[in-house]
Amino acid sequence: MIIAVDGPTASGKGTIAKALAAHFGLPHLDTGLLYRAVGRQVQINGGNPDDPHDALAACEFPESLLEDSSLRSEEVGGFASRVSVHPGVRHALYERQRAFALQEGGAVLDGRDIGTVIAPEAPVKLFVTASVAERARRRWLEMTGRGIDVLLAAIERDIAARDARDMNRADAPLMAAPGALVIDTTHFGRDAAIEAAIEAVQTRLG
Ligand code: C5P
Repeated sequence: MIIAVDGPTASGKGTIAKALAAHFGLPHLDTGLLYRAVGRQVQINGGNPDDPHDALAACEFPESLLEDSSLRSEEVGGFASRVSVHPGVRHALYERQRAFALQEGGAVLDGRDIGTVIAPEAPVKLFVTASVAERARRRWLEMTGRGIDVLLAAIERDIAARDARDMNRADAPLMAAPGALVIDTTHFGRDAAIEAAIEAVQTRLG
């Protein structure tokens, strides 16, 4: 069984995907991490994330980079969003994601284009979203909790810019796949959102 979980940044899709994987005993892939690794590798190479050649060259990142905590930073998230507009980068990362989705027994993948491009045949597709203000608030709480001094307004501006880039790119834009069940977590706590997702999957599977 393939479960596709898509949605914008800080919507709760990663938390939901991990919980679904644990509940249904399936392996999980956070595909955003692959784009983040490419973004970080461009940075390491001293390249330009908006240049398709620099971005493509960075797809040759070492596996160990996927474990690097720097991938979680807002700065690398911005680089990831910029490299992800290049069709060459999306193509280079496609096989790895597709193979993960097709492994025996099934898998849970979360990202932006799982239900539309990577595994359009997935029997269960979720689109997890929340308002920009709420997503910015969550990210701000997380960052200030880690001792990072940052303005809520700046985070809100960055999230809106990232959404616009992800939704308006020509190749695999962020959108709910046809037939996807939309879960709006704006007014949900973590546990309620997870519960809703598990229930939705169970309903979908009959
Ligand atoms: O989900 P996360 O915030 O880690 O993703 C970082 C960036 O990678 C996103 O803003 C998006 O541009 C890109 N991405 C993508 N397709 C995916 C996963 C992530 O384009 N399947």
